[in-house]
Amino acid sequence: MSVVQGFKLVGFAAMALSLNACIIVRSNGGEFDDDEPGFDDPDFDDLPDIPREDRPDDREAQRVRQLFEPLTATADPDPTNAFADDADAARFGERLFNDKRFSSDGTIACVSCHDPSQGFSDTRQFSTGVGGAVGTRHSPGIVNPGLMKFVLWDGRADSLWSQPVRAMENPAEMNLKRTEIAHLTIENHASEYEQVFGGMPNLLDVPTAASPGDLGWQRMSGTQVEQVEDVVANVGKAIAAFERTITCDGTRFDRFLQGSNNLTRQEVRGALLFDEVGCAECHSGPNFSDQEFHNIGIGSENAAEAEGRASVLAQLFDDPFGGAGMHSDDTGAGRAKLDTVDSEPTDRGLFKTPSLRGVTQRPRYMHNGSFDDIRRVVQFYASQDVRQEGAVGEVASIVRDLSATRDEQDDIAAFLGTLECR
Ligand code: HEC
Ligand code: HEC
Repeated sequence: MSVVQGFKLVGFAAMALSLNACIIVRSNGGEFDDDEPGFDDPDFDDLPDIPREDRPDDREAQRVRQLFEPLTATADPDPTNAFADDADAARFGERLFNDKRFSSDGTIACVSCHDPSQGFSDTRQFSTGVGGAVGTRHSPGIVNPGLMKFVLWDGRADSLWSQPVRAMENPAEMNLKRTEIAHLTIENHASEYEQVFGGMPNLLDVPTAASPGDLGWQRMSGTQVEQVEDVVANVGKAIAAFERTITCDGTRFDRFLQGSNNLTRQEVRGALLFDEVGCAECHSGPNFSDQEFHNIGIGSENAAEAEGRASVLAQLFDDPFGGAGMHSDDTGAGRAKLDTVDSEPTDRGLFKTPSLRGVTQRPRYMHNGSFDDIRRVVQFYASQDVRQEGAVGEVASIVRDLSATRDEQDDIAAFLGTLECR
């Protein structure tokens, strides 16, 4: 296991992501070493020097330990991706994640907008893709993505492996044609691909750059289409396997819950308030997300995208790379997930509850990246006037009713800092 600026990459050595990070590579396949203080040792004090007056009240500390539970698993199984937990696939996926050749001008890779030193997010409010194209949403951090039920702010992808093709084909991101993705894979990664997925198809007669809708694509045989899409789906599965290794557990807060006396009075109070004022209604469970969609009054760059969840369901149900589609390794599981989705939601402006793990390591917040200071976010929730310009629909009543004094807001912000990934 290795640690890249706070984010652990489980199971294999982090190579390309290193930047100027401090990397600790462990060789025992994910077990915590003895020289890693704290995790196995509940008495370990992460902050041994907390002055007496800053130490929490015992009863308050006890109450927090009753209310919250530490994170014990950083990924759910994904039967729709047979390679989800394959170490070779993850290693290949990491190479792909960092490979700028997978963009129309050779300048943009996934990592360009998901920077490990920024919590796998982006300092810019709206990321810049190929040719300086600017998108319309903020790049979210990738935190414990193996626990995500639906992917993207509006959840229009039902698995981690169905998302990469969208980024690669998006004109404002990597701007590739579907056949280009397959050709680039064969040209640059043939042996890694074959090692994980078996033989590569022969794509000599496949047009160099064609996507569904293009004339070149229409002229392809059924077999060629299938071969190209198989490679594209496998590229997604490898990247997903890598992303599942980007984990965040063992935070200061987890250690506190396991018995360490490492939090200050203010942080403990913040945790209690987080529960009391209602944050935990949506940011629930050990990953601090209910994986549901809510309206909290955040505005959107353009009117079409402001609708959020409701406007993407057709895409979700009809995704060729979805869990119920022909490239899935378990269409039954894929269909079962789609069955949980309300196909006619009446609410407007619904967006996914992000995990709050590592939140203070991300430079910006919300799907429009409108905040760059965590205290401002808490203040926004606590203010009476909770709707930004460009927001549609009705703000969740729990958010409308939410109130917290200035001091309480500071406490909550301090608590969020204890969720820093290490
Ligand atoms: C040009 C910038 C850019 C590039 C390149 C890019 N992304 Fe993203 N990524 C974004 C933005 C913006 C979003 C949010 C889009 C949305 O939700 O509508 C996003 C969302 C995501 C999410 C969803 C996270 C969540 O919380 O739901 C994942 C996972 C992800 N990207 C992975 C990738 C991978 C893998 C690649 C490379 C194949 C990639 N991204 C390339 C900007 C980028
Ligand atoms: C009704 C459900 C709900 C409640 C209650 C709620 N949140 Fe959120 N939270 C969300 C949703 C949904 C988003 C994403 C909204 C968007 O971008 O449109 C979000 C986003 C955030 C973010 C930004 C994270 C990021 O990576 O961009 C922070 C921080 C946050 N919430 C903290 C809190 C705190 C602190 C409270 C309590 C004061 C709270 N939330 C209460 C649903 C909720």
